[in-house]
Amino acid sequence: MSFSIERYKEESKKVDVTGIAWDDVTRHPLSKGDLFCLHYMMDIENHVPLYLSHLLVTRACMDPILTAFLACWNYEELWHGENIGRLLNLYGIEFDTQDRIANVRANLGFQNSVSLMSTMAGSWLLKDFSAVYLTIGAINELSTLTGYGALIRKSGHPVLKDLLSRIIKDERRHYAFYYNSAKEWLTANERAQRIDRWMLNRVWVPVGQGVKTQEEVDALAMYLFDDEQGEEDLLELDAKIGKLPGLSGIKLMSKALYSARERVRRDPRWAWRRIDNEEWAIKPAKKSPVGQLTTRKLTEPQEATTS
Ligand SMILES: [Fe+2]
Ligand SMILES: [Fe+2]
Repeated sequence: MSFSIERYKEESKKVDVTGIAWDDVTRHPLSKGDLFCLHYMMDIENHVPLYLSHLLVTRACMDPILTAFLACWNYEELWHGENIGRLLNLYGIEFDTQDRIANVRANLGFQNSVSLMSTMAGSWLLKDFSAVYLTIGAINELSTLTGYGALIRKSGHPVLKDLLSRIIKDERRHYAFYYNSAKEWLTANERAQRIDRWMLNRVWVPVGQGVKTQEEVDALAMYLFDDEQGEEDLLELDAKIGKLPGLSGIKLMSKALYSARERVRRDPRWAWRRIDNEEWAIKPAKKSPVGQLTTRKLTEPQEATTS
């Protein structure tokens, strides 16, 4: 798997949605599970600027190749979220994207600042901390594209399939970058390998957890991966990450699925009730997120004037 940063910089662009049959979105049904996953995925795509803020406070920000990648990556991810939102709106689910994004961020509250500061401290205390972030980047990109593949399979929705297949091509490039960067950092660096493995086994969580609750993460895992094909996909994913230096035999995504199954076994309503009750709305923030957190003044849309 090769990756050229020069080529990526030249070719990076927003996902091309030309020719997608948007008019056909309502012609094919989406199940509650499909809709639950789409909301989850949209929120996490839209959360990328906050993940970026974490990467930029690590030592990794000293690497111009990494920062060039991040500049393009962040832009591409923006359009993934936008287009999933567009599909949901066309399907008839009404929400204002900017409000939703602002509410997701505002609901994190102080937790985001604490996490940012501990990432910064960890990175500057441990030289090889960046290896952990690069590996997590690889896992997140690979689980995102695996999740999109699973949703294509589960939904059988042709327009969604078309959109997600285009997004998956971007995610593959992102995965290649993170994987190769992590590999470079870990190769012949036993200390980095030890830190990486230790951190992944203890602090790693599936993409989206933290923004989403454990039960929401479990609902996504159960809907997408709780069948033979899904489990196989996750074992394959772990095997790919296990090829990184020092990570042989590591179990992450498959372990997350088994833990989700165990929680459902103990309480059969767990996770599934989130889907059944259509709990994909986001609670409004207690304070006005845009106005109070950024001091931006919200103005009423101007009436178009004719002369
Ligand atoms: Fe994405
Ligand atoms: Fe991505």
